[in-house]
Amino acid sequence: MKALILSGGKGTRLRPITHTSAKQLVPVANKPILFYAIESIRDAGIRDIGIVVGDTHEEIRQAVGDGNRFGVRITYIQQEAPMGLAHAVMISEEFMDGEPFVMFLGDNLIKDGIRPLVKEYERSGANSQILLAHVPNAREFGVAEVEGGRVIRLVEKPDNPPSDLALVGVYMFDRNVFEAVNSIKPSARGELEITDAIQYLIDKGYSVESHTITGWWKDTGKLEDMLEANRLILDGRETQIAGEVDATSTIEGRVATAKGSKITNSCVRGPAIIGEGCVVEDSFIGPYTSINDRSIIRGSEVEHSIILEDSQVVGIGSRLADSLVGRNVHISRNCKTPRAYRMMLGDNSEVSVI
Ligand code: G1P
Repeated sequence: MKALILSGGKGTRLRPITHTSAKQLVPVANKPILFYAIESIRDAGIRDIGIVVGDTHEEIRQAVGDGNRFGVRITYIQQEAPMGLAHAVMISEEFMDGEPFVMFLGDNLIKDGIRPLVKEYERSGANSQILLAHVPNAREFGVAEVEGGRVIRLVEKPDNPPSDLALVGVYMFDRNVFEAVNSIKPSARGELEITDAIQYLIDKGYSVESHTITGWWKDTGKLEDMLEANRLILDGRETQIAGEVDATSTIEGRVATAKGSKITNSCVRGPAIIGEGCVVEDSFIGPYTSINDRSIIRGSEVEHSIILEDSQVVGIGSRLADSLVGRNVHISRNCKTPRAYRMMLGDNSEVSVI
């Protein structure tokens, strides 16, 4: 079996972070989301992975390379325009070379991995296997209508969902999917939808098995989802202190610090992770916080947040919470008069002040 990871797309719901970075490279617990997908596929015993890339291809190639460090072989497949998930499958036909494959959306996270699901598909001999999950907000996903245990209809982001069963962004196909993606027409939003391709397979009598997953799954397209994913991954981490912690600091609960990080006169209350070369001084780092490499937190409180590389939070008078802070961002207290909030924010930024 081979694998296909979709890593194109514009990431509009995570702007402004995605103005300068691919959404699949936004880190959760200091590791890009995309890396979790690669590792899940590798742990399912698959070595040949095609990654479909778009505008952000350079950054993705640079972060992932040839796959050697993950123990896999990566082939990049360039998608000229974001024309839909089924279009991404269409342009991957040569890479698949007739083999069945698992397709993994690069912004999806499945906590328990996909090994048993891939094995189940291999055993079943079905033409396709889809994964479903009960969700409270089915309108935001592809939704399945199931009758007598069989999927009879799939609809993409319906106004009136026929069920609460969302299509998880991990799909398994054999070569017949190429007939489907080459036969369907673009949807109202002008994209070739994978949902329509699977509906084509059902309508033509191909076997499409479904498996409703009960473990945790997240499509990390939005801020709240990123923070939730961060919480979940941090919950599974153990304490590992590789950096310096001085005698006036306290570490409570599960905290991981990387080499070269320095915690001085501070309290870090896990679950939390602090990356390489970070400085935390006279500060409180609260639960569910990920601080990425070379960031500085001084005289401040940060909780339930993700802070990317090379950023600084210095001397702010209140607690920073529920936030996603990009790379190389500086947040500080302003003591000049007139007293005012002074900001330089990128397009589509969101700020809420007390
Ligand atoms: C895509 C699919 C949708 C699926 C979702 C899972 O939507 O079109 O059917 O439920 O992924 O993450 P997107 O998140 O790209 O809007």
